[in-house]
Parts: sequence; structure tokens; C-alpha cells
Amino acid sequence: MANEKLNIGIILGSTRQGRVSPQVGEWVKGIADKREDANYEIVDIADFQLPFLGTTEGTEPGIAAWSEKVASLDGFVFIVQEYNHSITGALKNALDIAKREAWNNKAAGIVSYGGTGGARAAEHLRGICGELFIADVKTHPTLSLFTDFENFTTFKPADLHVDNVNLMLDQVNAWSGALKTLRY
Ligand SMILES: Cc1cc2nc3c(=O)[nH]c(=O)nc-3n(C[C@H](O)[C@H](O)[C@H](O)COP(=O)(O)O)c2cc1C
Repeated sequence: MANEKLNIGIILGSTRQGRVSPQVGEWVKGIADKREDANYEIVDIADFQLPFLGTTEGTEPGIAAWSEKVASLDGFVFIVQEYNHSITGALKNALDIAKREAWNNKAAGIVSYGGTGGARAAEHLRGICGELFIADVKTHPTLSLFTDFENFTTFKPADLHVDNVNLMLDQVNAWSGALKTLRY
């Protein structure tokens, strides 16, 4: 048990058509997979076709599947994009609609992007993490729509971000392992 690899989900926060988040998520996964220290997977909120919380009876299979997916993870890397100085409605809804216990006592890192690196959205997410008992780590790679993307659409990250992603993953893994002991 002690030597089992942790399961870390790289959660894509945007669901809009034409979104750039899959490019950012795949880049983080590429860096993460080279480490061989955990099982990393992309988790796409769009795949679950979640209704807005409270607008249906809540019997859609995607809702239960989403909670199960979150519950199966030991830690998270949120790929966060800035929408009107905050996170997307889709990510907030996904955070709200999963069973609370599925998030509790787990760790998370944030990789954000936007005109100012998505910093304002990321800080909003930190407040939400506190409420959900998610321990968000300090190191936070911030990607600029102006310099890390071409035409705001094609992701071409500067090399300097790779060290930051690895540092963030060091912290997510350490805290995810430590917090796992609280869940048994
Ligand atoms: C509704 C909306 C609001 C946005 N608001 C901001 C903003 O407040 N600050 C910012 O830096 N970028 C803002 N943007 C630009 C997005 O960060 C940018 O389009 C980014 O590519 C969105 O991520 P996505 O392509 O993965 O959906 C906004 C985009 C949309 C669609």
C-alpha cells in the first residue's frame, strides 16, 4: 500500500468550443509522465456533460461518474483559465456538483493562463479549495496569453515554466501522499 503510486488528475477547467485548455493539459501531462512518480491522467469536465447544479433531478449518469472520478483521485492539477477575473462557470459547477467527500483531504496544484497569467482566477480557486478541504500548494505556474501562446490560440510555452511545473508537482505529490493517511 505504502509504495502504490498516487493517482493525480489533471483537470481541464474550460469546456467551451475552441478552448485551448487541452493543449495546456497535455503539456503538463508530458512533463508529469517523465517523472514516473505517480499515475497522471487528463480529466475533462466536458466528457461528463454535467447539468448545472439544481436544474435537474440529478439523475444524469455523468453526475455520478464525475463524483466517482474525483473520488478515485489522490490529488489534482487544475488547469485554470481566467474568465471575467475568475474561474469558468463550468469548473465552479464541477466543483459544486461532485460529492464533497470526493474532494476532501486531497492536494492540488494550479496551472493558470490569461492576460495576466490567470492569477486572479487562480486566487479565487484557492478560496474554494479551502472550503472543500483541498490543500492547494504554493508553486503556481502562470502562463501568459501574450507570450506563451501564438495568436492567443497556439500554445508555445517558454522553457522557464518547466521547472515551475516540476516544483508544483513535487509539492502536490508530497501533500497528496501525506493527506491520503487521513482518508483511511
Ligand atoms: C467569457 C470570457 C471572459 C474572459 N475574461 C478574461 C479575463 O477577465 N481576464 C483574462 O485574462 N482573460 C479573459 N478571457 C480570455 C481567456 O482567458 C482566454 O480566451 C483563454 O483562452 C480561455 O481559456 P480556454 O481557451 O481554455 O477556454 C476571457 C474569455 C472569455 C471567453
